[in-house]
Amino acid sequence: MSEGKAFYIETYGCQMNFSDSEIVASVLRDAGYQFVDNAGQAGLILINTCSIRDKAEKRIWKRLRELHAFRKKNHAIQIGVIGCMAERLKDELLESGFSVDLVAGPDAYRVLPTLLTEVDGGQKAANIELSAEETYDDIQPVKYHSNGVSSFISIMRGCENFCAYCVVPFTRGRERSRDPRTIVNEAARLFDEGFREVTLLGQNVNSYRWDADGVVTSFPDLMGQVAAISPMLRVRFTTSHPKDLSDDLLRVMVSYPNICRSVHLAVQSGSNRVLKLMNRRYTREWYLERVASIRHYMPDCTLSTDIIAGFCSETDEDHADTISLMQEAAFDSAFMFRYSERSGTLASKRYPDDVPDEVKAARLSEIIALQQKLSARSNRADIGKVLEVLVEGSSKRSPDFLMGRTSGNKVVVFPDRGNKPGDYVMVKITGSTPATLKGIIAAV
Ligand code: 5AD
Ligand code: SF4
Repeated sequence: MSEGKAFYIETYGCQMNFSDSEIVASVLRDAGYQFVDNAGQAGLILINTCSIRDKAEKRIWKRLRELHAFRKKNHAIQIGVIGCMAERLKDELLESGFSVDLVAGPDAYRVLPTLLTEVDGGQKAANIELSAEETYDDIQPVKYHSNGVSSFISIMRGCENFCAYCVVPFTRGRERSRDPRTIVNEAARLFDEGFREVTLLGQNVNSYRWDADGVVTSFPDLMGQVAAISPMLRVRFTTSHPKDLSDDLLRVMVSYPNICRSVHLAVQSGSNRVLKLMNRRYTREWYLERVASIRHYMPDCTLSTDIIAGFCSETDEDHADTISLMQEAAFDSAFMFRYSERSGTLASKRYPDDVPDEVKAARLSEIIALQQKLSARSNRADIGKVLEVLVEGSSKRSPDFLMGRTSGNKVVVFPDRGNKPGDYVMVKITGSTPATLKGIIAAV
């Protein structure tokens, strides 16, 4: 029997995966397993996987190869693959010849104990059924990823936007929202435990909607409810789809100073032609109008984005549109990727992946170089300001310094004057790099 068996979870990919791993830890702990934070002590290793790009999957295959070699050296471990790649590649994983005992998709975490009983009986076990209802809303996640100050709360699952490049609607299934009472309770409990920041997570949080006998809770309503828990609790959210980012939400943000002045708004491309092929359902003009509205309501709000270089049929002119949009929007930061074809997606069925690798690479480099400049400029503009910083802990580089974040989600490093994680301090910004602000405490 697995009772008492020590398990370890290794997590790859997005914040949603990290949040899911905390749910998995809770399910297994309730079933009598023992959580350990070191693979070396574990009898069961679960790998929570990501399929978003080919590179992410390659990394996981490499890890499985390593674990296979480890097990062959007579280490009696069980290995499970969970998450998006499990959903997408169940048969390949089970038949790979690597030591994979268990495969479970993102909606199958409740039945993990049952699946593991099958594994104990000497069989391979798998469940990749997707659900239209599962939100795990009654499960109290084990917050083991956390620094004790900030935490994620997942408020919905799945995605039905079907952007042409994206595998998520296939690996995570139908979009469904979680009961707002359970979200507010989780946030309030975290606050009582000393947490000072929560990030509400979903693939497209703006389409959050809960209907209880005709009483509808929208995303702006939910943000208001979470922000009302305490002015000392910072609230963030990610990620927003530009087509759904409403002024209602911006007005709620304005009315709560503890809702962070930071919006992540994935643009993907600056070319209307490419946006149409991507099935993003907004134009460059619409996007820039949303940015103008954010800045109108909150001039101090930072803006981050996701950009894909080299989507199918992208021309030099389309790429130039992305560059000019970046300049116009003046992003404070960005996640930038080269297009990676995913089988099953609309793009893989309809459009050839015809931008040569070297062209994708050159365009991505240009995008990264520009963002580096934009981030440097944005950070330089903060020099001289006094900003409220939530302390997260010691700086990685030097124990004499603390690190924390501004409301705009910028990292600030400053000399340690005895503050503790979870404290709010006012920091005068004295210097910057493209990635960090430096400062000194102005007041406590
Ligand atoms: N290739 C490259 N980037 C992708 N993303 C999603 N799918 C792909 C893909 N097939 C990027 C998008 C998305 C982010 C999470 O990952 O920019 O917003
Ligand atoms: Fe993928 Fe688009 Fe859904 Fe984001 S909104 S998860 S990019 S399909």
